[in-house]
Amino acid sequence: MGRGVLERVPRWLTAAAVGLVACALLMGPVVLFGAFTLRTSLEDLNARSDRERQGAAALAAALVGRTIFAHGEQLRVVSSGVDFHAALALRDSARLSNLLAPMVTGVPDVATAGVLDPAGKVMARFPVDATAVGLSLADRDYYAGAMRSDGVFVGDAVTSRIDPTLSIVTLSYSVREDNVVRAIAILSVRPTTLIADLEAALDAPGRELLLIDRRLATIASTTERPMLSPVDVPARAGQGVAPFDGAPRAFVGAAIGGADWTLYVLDDPARVYVAQRNLLTQLGLPLAASIVVAGLLAALLASAWLLLMRGRERLAAVNVQLRELNGEVHGLNRTLAHNVSELRALNGELSAFAYSVSHDLRAPLRAIDGFSQILLEDKAPQLGEDGRQHLERVRAAATRMGLLIDDLLLLSRITRDEMTMGNVDLTAVARSVAEELRSRDPRRSVEFETNGALPAKGDERLLRVALTNLLANSWKFTRDRQPARISFGGAVRDGEAMFFVKDNGVGFDMRYAQKLFGAFQRLHSASEFEGTGIGLATVQRIVHRHGGRVWAESELDKGTTFYFTLPPADAVRPEGGVG
Ligand SMILES: Nc1ncnc2c1ncn2[C@@H]1O[C@H](COP(=O)(O)OP(=O)(O)O)[C@@H](O)[C@H]1O
Ligand SMILES: [Mg+2]
Repeated sequence: MGRGVLERVPRWLTAAAVGLVACALLMGPVVLFGAFTLRTSLEDLNARSDRERQGAAALAAALVGRTIFAHGEQLRVVSSGVDFHAALALRDSARLSNLLAPMVTGVPDVATAGVLDPAGKVMARFPVDATAVGLSLADRDYYAGAMRSDGVFVGDAVTSRIDPTLSIVTLSYSVREDNVVRAIAILSVRPTTLIADLEAALDAPGRELLLIDRRLATIASTTERPMLSPVDVPARAGQGVAPFDGAPRAFVGAAIGGADWTLYVLDDPARVYVAQRNLLTQLGLPLAASIVVAGLLAALLASAWLLLMRGRERLAAVNVQLRELNGEVHGLNRTLAHNVSELRALNGELSAFAYSVSHDLRAPLRAIDGFSQILLEDKAPQLGEDGRQHLERVRAAATRMGLLIDDLLLLSRITRDEMTMGNVDLTAVARSVAEELRSRDPRRSVEFETNGALPAKGDERLLRVALTNLLANSWKFTRDRQPARISFGGAVRDGEAMFFVKDNGVGFDMRYAQKLFGAFQRLHSASEFEGTGIGLATVQRIVHRHGGRVWAESELDKGTTFYFTLPPADAVRPEGGVG
């Protein structure tokens, strides 16, 4: 995925797309498998249900057909018998009724049996009914049917005169002798009773067995269906789902041979497919659950994606900020470098100025001193005592100014000179400085002690200048001490090498401790203790150039200790003459 494309599309849209894709990936196999299983299971169930209903319809149709056929055969056999012919010849009505009786008695689906003469008038009837004898039934279709055919004729259904909810179908058979019709035997069957027995056998909730005849009229039904009402059937056989009296029915039709009837097994489609529905809910529940789970997972993925995108954006923003900051730092560095070089230039100029001023001052100073001396030597008598003293003062002032110039030059050189770093044994340096001081002033008795050796890193020449200043001060300010004691030592503290120069001299008021390090700052008058006030400024300059600190602790009349630190030997960073 191209980064640019992703940045243009709204975040929620990409997240939604990711969610959808994840959902599809997660759900795809489940849905496919579910659909496949459902399809095969439904097909299987449908086939099983169809087979069961086809079987029921075929069974019912066969039974109804065989029963009708059996009744017809019985009618034919009874009416073809010798006894029957004999009774017929005698027109013995009672005897005929007796012969008909076994076909009716104890047979629930047979209503009546009878015999008609060739003209269609009733000769005998069972159950016996005297009033019926002589009644003409020549208008009935079964009379005409029997007259026409050799075999058993199945007549059209009629509603029973006794019970209008029942239909009656009359079977007729023409009894012949030498191909001349002697009589017509009839048997009335109740089709409803036929299928009522079947209903119990093929019981299924909500199922209807429906029997229609060749006119598509209802002749039997296991439900309350008006007899002989025409039924709008979708097909005389086969199966499907179609409306029967308005309500859709799953139907299977089977033809009944010999009678031109059709038997339908009608089921409520909802019941037929109840198993399918159960299957659907059984499969649907886990399917729905997995869809929900997949949806949740997809949402999770989508939100993770959102977080990722947001994180990426934040990172990018931070990167931009970082780049900006880097740019700023670069800018600041450049400014700093510029300032440093400017400062260096200024320093150089200042030093050059101090140097030239000092040099330029020396010539007039020498002239003042030189001419004062000539005056003192050559014109002493004329000057008198006062004049000589004045001139001596002039010479002393010139000398002092010379010293000042020297110190100033030293300070400016210390600021300017390149440093040469190396290992320095400060204790050795301190000892040699002390020796020097002693040889310069051999009348003084000063106890000088050092405590071991502490290596330090720095410019030996500069550190010697610093130590010379500190020790010279101690030497000077212990002038009236008996005995004068000066010590030098060092210790490692907090990763720094710390050194001290301690004396038991006159000390000073700690309130002015900070001022001391400024140039020309003095706490003692020149008449008391000679000096220029540049020594400690020089010391501070040198210590600072080594990256260290310097400070003092003192008490009036008790003594003074100067401390200074130098960074550990390895981490020395020479300052390079700046400032
Ligand atoms: N060891 C010390 N004891 C007492 N005072 C001191 C000591 N060292 C320095 N000072 C004070 O600090 C002042 C400045 O010292 P410094 O800069 O060396 O100048 P200078 O030595 O020429 O007077 C001194 O004049 C003195 O007042
Ligand atoms: Mg000094």
